Amino acid sequence: MEKNKIVVANLKMNMSFGQIKTYIDKIRTIETKRVVFCPSSLYIPYFLGYNYGVGIQQISNKIEGAYTGQISSKQAGSMGLVLTLIGHSECRTYLKESDDLINEKVKAALENKLNVILCIGETKEQREMLKTSYILKKQIISALNGLSKQGLKHVYIAYEPVWAIGTNKIPSNRDIEDTIRYIKKIVEKHFDFNNIPVLYGGSINSKNIEELNEIENCSGFLVGGSSLKVKELFKIIEVALKE
Ligand code: PGA
Repeated sequence: MEKNKIVVANLKMNMSFGQIKTYIDKIRTIETKRVVFCPSSLYIPYFLGYNYGVGIQQISNKIEGAYTGQISSKQAGSMGLVLTLIGHSECRTYLKESDDLINEKVKAALENKLNVILCIGETKEQREMLKTSYILKKQIISALNGLSKQGLKHVYIAYEPVWAIGTNKIPSNRDIEDTIRYIKKIVEKHFDFNNIPVLYGGSINSKNIEELNEIENCSGFLVGGSSLKVKELFKIIEVALKE
């Protein structure tokens, strides 16, 4: 089993300010940067100042200037955030993020010293048409295009099958293990970079985490829905981070 796994809580667009304050009261005891919270950007300042890590769900491909409604990696870095998600399937789908835009975002984040969690994954239809490998390869090669080895050291890839996000459906351990191996191989072959860390995300909960944690080559977990319930999240952290 991989050591030094991380658990990233993607809170998405959830919770009112009142709920967030109660939530922070419960999680503030977490004493490790191996747990990273990505709240709605509006709430980020309230999450800072504790011993867990804080990240952002979304950044601009631009660094500064007249870009109404956007947040730059430079701004996020200056707040002490440790990472940004990029290419989440919800952004690819609802915000129509293209592969080129995702590549620009990755570069902008790395230039501004933010670690990147690049999210990739196939849809149900793509999987049924046996296109998973093709899709993942395309997403990886386009997103990482032009990065230096130094840059790649700050990238995690999160394998999140779109059909597994928020659906209570997950691939088998065997399937995830094979896919992680494939992802690492693509990065090795096309970028001459070995052993890029790969996380799994999609319908993780307190019941399936023990089994998921058995996956040999997995560097951690990206948790959506279950991170909203503190008890669920604490159980996931306990299992995933035990040595
Ligand atoms: P989920 O979401 O855990 O609710 O399936 C995961 C994600 O979207 O990162």
